[in-house]
Amino acid sequence: MTTHTPASVRVRAPGKINVFLEVGDVQDDGYHELATAFQAVSLYEEMTATPADDISLEVSSRGPVDIDGVPTDDRNLAIRAARLLAQTAGVDRGAHLLIRKAVPVAGGMGGGSADAAAALVACDALWGLGMPMSELSRMAARLGADVPFALMGGTAVGTGRGDELSPALARGRFDWVLVPNDVGMSTPVVYGELDAHRERHAVDIGPAPRVPAVDPDVLHALRQGDAKMLAATLRNDLQAAALHLRPDLARVLERGESSGALAGLVSGSGPTLAFLATDEASAIDLQVTLSAAGLVALHVHGPVPGARVV
Ligand code: C5P
Repeated sequence: MTTHTPASVRVRAPGKINVFLEVGDVQDDGYHELATAFQAVSLYEEMTATPADDISLEVSSRGPVDIDGVPTDDRNLAIRAARLLAQTAGVDRGAHLLIRKAVPVAGGMGGGSADAAAALVACDALWGLGMPMSELSRMAARLGADVPFALMGGTAVGTGRGDELSPALARGRFDWVLVPNDVGMSTPVVYGELDAHRERHAVDIGPAPRVPAVDPDVLHALRQGDAKMLAATLRNDLQAAALHLRPDLARVLERGESSGALAGLVSGSGPTLAFLATDEASAIDLQVTLSAAGLVALHVHGPVPGARVV
């Protein structure tokens, strides 16, 4: 059988916001047990895959994303994803991957994870593999805790490391304004700061929750498509750690909240801040106000689908 090789494959993969993130104890493997509610938002990584002898990567930027320091070798999750797929499928195929990044680098929005999910979907199509989603999802989990969600998209609850997913019902759309930051943050460092904080305050705050769980009010708000209700239940356990490391973010958080946002929170491990707006019109107003104050502000909405061929 001859397999048809397309001249190129284009894939889009979304960034994410954790609208709820409860962090439990650190496990033996160094990962924390957590419970999170993810929402994929309309800020996309774009990838074009073309046939090549080897697996290679080129990274460019869309918009204000600073791509300095993004590796294009085996340290890059997209390269690792393509290699893992080739190995799992038992094919000796190559691909040149061109990523156009719009999701902030080291921004707490899962940009690297979106690139890995995009690489799985793009190479699967380029190589004509037709891998089932369940298989791609298993590979995604081996690459990183947030990669399965970048593949799935929409709105989902994640447990375990954040990679055990179940879809969550969400009605309508939620409008967000994102404020990225020039200086990225390292996810392990932020988790480490949370551990140190819990250690320092062990007497006052007691032990970390034994089994983290998503607040049912968050799921209710998502089901109702009710932004006001969701705003009241937004929570991120990494936020205090991120703000401790980067006190400058607190001022921006206040700025957004006093400029018409329903609520704001640190996205994932930061430093991107996500502000929830009542509706599209108020998100546009908020974006204009924050831009006028000299901040980079991006209006996005969620939920949107996961990594897809376009
Ligand atoms: O899986 P990923 O490479 O995205 O995780 C980056 C780092 O974030 C991990 O090495 C770990 O330090 C931290 N992490 C964690 N618990 C999780 C997810 C990530 O401690 N559930």
